[in-house]
Amino acid sequence: MENKTDFLIIGSGIAGLSLAIKLAPLGHVTVVTKKSKSDTATNLAQGGVACVFGPDDNFDLHRQDTLFAGDGLSHEDIVDMIVTQGPDRIRELIDLGVPFNRDPNNPDRLDLGKEGEHSRRRIVHAEDFTGRAIQRTLVDRVSQLSSVEVLEDHIAIDLITENKVRKCPSDETEKGRCLGAYILDVDTGTVRTFLAPITVLATGGAGKVYLYTSNPDVATGAGIAIAYRAGARVANLEFVQFHPTCLYHAEAKNFLISEALRGEGARLLDPEFRPFMEKYDPERKELAGRDVVARAIDTELKNSGKECVYLDISHRSADFIQGRFPNIYKMCLRYGIDITKEPIPVVPAAHYMCGGVVTNKYGEADLEGLFALGETACTGLHGANRLASNSLLEGLVMAHQAFLRTREIFPQLRSRAFPQVPPWDIGGAMDMKEAILISHNWDVIRRLMWNYVGIVRSTKRLGLAKERLLPILDEIQRHYWDYTLTRDFIELRNLAQVAELIVMAASQRKESRGGHFTLDYPYKDDWNWRRDTILQKI
Ligand code: SIN
Repeated sequence: MENKTDFLIIGSGIAGLSLAIKLAPLGHVTVVTKKSKSDTATNLAQGGVACVFGPDDNFDLHRQDTLFAGDGLSHEDIVDMIVTQGPDRIRELIDLGVPFNRDPNNPDRLDLGKEGEHSRRRIVHAEDFTGRAIQRTLVDRVSQLSSVEVLEDHIAIDLITENKVRKCPSDETEKGRCLGAYILDVDTGTVRTFLAPITVLATGGAGKVYLYTSNPDVATGAGIAIAYRAGARVANLEFVQFHPTCLYHAEAKNFLISEALRGEGARLLDPEFRPFMEKYDPERKELAGRDVVARAIDTELKNSGKECVYLDISHRSADFIQGRFPNIYKMCLRYGIDITKEPIPVVPAAHYMCGGVVTNKYGEADLEGLFALGETACTGLHGANRLASNSLLEGLVMAHQAFLRTREIFPQLRSRAFPQVPPWDIGGAMDMKEAILISHNWDVIRRLMWNYVGIVRSTKRLGLAKERLLPILDEIQRHYWDYTLTRDFIELRNLAQVAELIVMAASQRKESRGGHFTLDYPYKDDWNWRRDTILQKI
């Protein structure tokens, strides 16, 4: 069945929904999301949005902190644009009703948190579950807009591109045109054809490619895999950011212990309960960059052979802890840990993909009519390592930029007819009876990536990862034609694709920088490697 819409947005996090709200007056917006509209990484974000509001802060300082974290690969023009637009975008969220905390001593001002590598207090937050407050507000607003339709349990399979439809080789046109996407309606099992002059990939990151992650189950790298398969460039996928402190508990799944705790003085302790960050970064200690802290924890764990280190904030008053971190306090208590009295067991986990689909300053990817936003994109903001709480900011600003550009190009794109697009052809595909064919490969990939392509890499480990991924990719390709598509299979296909891309990117970078550390090239090589790692399907 063919469905026409003006704007097709794939993903319902901060970038997708804030763009949908802005586009609503211009036409019909279809947002597709593979689970429920609040199953997003945004919804899990704890810290907040980095933004210049403090009386002692300015854009230059935020810019410098972002560039320092990015370790030589951030694009200065993009950093500048995103940092300076921040306050306007936050005011828009306040107008929509996001309940950001106010400074208790001066309610005219926002309360500002502190996180690693920020030289000032600048994290705008809603208690310690900022993302949830933003997600709820955006979902509420979208539900009031008659021109925005949200389709839950709809998962994107692939983009429809003019080159493919017309069967011309991809180099015949300078830039192919994106016509929409094939989307699986999970409930009915049918593949729907969505045609749209503008398609937006805002599917979040790819944390599920690793065994341990702070990300929600939906973070399977869909946007990156889909864009790559359609011929768009992707970049810097070797720069996976590992968050130093996820709760270590048998029953806790991907629960983050926010960096904001370290911002308020929490200390990391080794398995013998001794502070250790001084050894790794004597000046910044717990507030060093995430790459430094995650590697320090990894070293402590490897040296001690233990399973976790500890984060201790119990020296702050119980009133302060319960007031500033009510959700983390309650969640830990649920697992029998009273953070006002005892240290929290923590381990690092894959947290954020600093690379993604290459875009310009409007969020446009290589195909005409295609945008990529938020964690799916590589705008140049994060470089080799993202500064904490810059991601929600990027999602907001880039959604606004995409809106400005869409407003300009939409009339022209809308006036162009779509070529004949063939409906999805299931051919002779059969139902896959054995779920084990998917779950086994899913487990193998995630374990392989954790062990061989994790916090510390080496040329040998990357080679082994590549060798083991190839037969899995092969098998998935065969199953793609033989079996009818399911959500699990589509996710596995994307996950495997992104794993391969991470390995390819990491193998190309012969140095250690930001989130990429390899034992064979342990130093930064500014002479040869100060550039993005670009991958494109040929
Ligand atoms: C955190 O609260 O520690 C996460 C914030 C972020 O990743 O930006």
